Amino acid sequence: MIVPLLLSSQAPELPVVVELGPGTGSFTAALRAAVPEMRFLGVELNGAMADHRSSRFPGIDLLRGPASSLSRALAERGLPAVDPVISGLPWQAFAGQVGTELISNIAAHLAPSGAYTQFTYSWTRWTPPGRRQHRELQRFFGRVDVSATVWPNLPPAVVYTATEPLMSGARTTDDR
Ligand SMILES: C[S@@+](CC[C@H](N)C(=O)[O-])C[C@H]1O[C@@H](n2cnc3c(N)ncnc32)[C@H](O)[C@@H]1O
Repeated sequence: MIVPLLLSSQAPELPVVVELGPGTGSFTAALRAAVPEMRFLGVELNGAMADHRSSRFPGIDLLRGPASSLSRALAERGLPAVDPVISGLPWQAFAGQVGTELISNIAAHLAPSGAYTQFTYSWTRWTPPGRRQHRELQRFFGRVDVSATVWPNLPPAVVYTATEPLMSGARTTDDR
């Protein structure tokens, strides 16, 4: 599951990795194993999940709050462009204007060669919120790929990989 996330980043230098909704930290563990020296920032809304992750990975930077705090968190830490941004957020986090702003912010902070990856349970892909999220990714990124279904994951999942962040902001329908 984690392999496509890691392969999508083309960062030539030490990456600043952002993980939105790290939960219990299964992706964090795989990322740390792959790139032990990475600079890492997690953003987790749920206090119990944040406690669990902090005790599992003491010393790893974790912002306790909503993913919509990403811009502020990066500014406070003086972090430059980031790559990759990895998300296990549920589709609810992308609903409405908050979701549009979140995807816009991710694109704005991502390095030009960076990748945003969104893990999603397969069955949610064809629901109206899932389709909306896909459309929103296509508005703010030049390229959006969807992986084959990862059957060994329970429940089965797919990974969206969005690259070529659009510097000038969202595309309109007419641009596509
Ligand atoms: C499907 S779980 C993440 C799975 C994760 N890869 C793991 O190993 O546990 C989704 C996580 O996103 C967090 N979350 C939900 N909405 C959020 C938001 N708006 N901002 C930040 N985290 C959020 C939840 O608390 C939960 O920990």
